[in-house]
Amino acid sequence: MGKVVTGFTMSLDGFVAAPNHDVGKLFKWYFSGDTPFPLLNTNMTFKMSAASAQHFQSLFDTTGALVTGRGDFDASNAWNGKPPFDVPTYIVTHNPPQEWVKEGSPFIFVTEGVESAIAQAKQSAGDKDVVIGGTQITQQGIKAGLIDEIFIELASMLLGDGISLFGHLGHHVELERLSVIEGTDVTHLRYRVVK
Ligand SMILES: NC(=O)c1ccc[n+]([C@@H]2O[C@H](COP(=O)([O-])OP(=O)(O)OC[C@H]3O[C@@H](n4cnc5c(N)ncnc54)[C@H](OP(=O)(O)O)[C@@H]3O)[C@@H](O)[C@H]2O)c1
Repeated sequence: MGKVVTGFTMSLDGFVAAPNHDVGKLFKWYFSGDTPFPLLNTNMTFKMSAASAQHFQSLFDTTGALVTGRGDFDASNAWNGKPPFDVPTYIVTHNPPQEWVKEGSPFIFVTEGVESAIAQAKQSAGDKDVVIGGTQITQQGIKAGLIDEIFIELASMLLGDGISLFGHLGHHVELERLSVIEGTDVTHLRYRVVK
């Protein structure tokens, strides 16, 4: 069975989006190099450093399912109907959007909470990893001891204000640093959550 990991681009002051949920400034590193990275399921091609492209590709290669929250789903406009990793995508919400609850929908809506969503995603992912998106989903996952690793793409900026990734967890979490990769305008950090 794979791991349960978070995956976010975060500013040095801990934000993953501006107060209006815009992520544009944070993703400068997607265009800070010469290595083309065609983004799955879109007609977009990023141009990042070779180190970032290699790192980013490994994230796509190892991801078997995505669990995120209704905030991420809404902020991305449901990724125009094409889930970002092209894997089973679980959206934790109290109120599933009826326009997406239909035969052939690319999204699975989970109203029983984060633990249930992660359990379902693990079944789908098999040997691959479950990636957690959504700040509330991440915080609840950490509190419940369900997150194995934290991947941070640390953007070289202070955003100043916005959506905090970790909020106020209210308790101490020990981390073991697993790797550091230097990109351009970003540092890729990987930590294991010590349980
Ligand atoms: N920087 C990056 O790499 C990156 C990547 C992706 C996204 N983002 C940003 O991250 C932000 C994600 O949104 P977010 O912070 O609002 O958090 P979120 O975790 O995606 O969604 C929070 C919402 O999920 C639902 N929810 C949470 N816990 C639940 C539970 N236990 N049971 C049922 N429903 C639950 C609630 O919505 P309902 O009550 O309405 O159902 C809640 O308002 C956006 O600003 C997005 O742009 C950044």
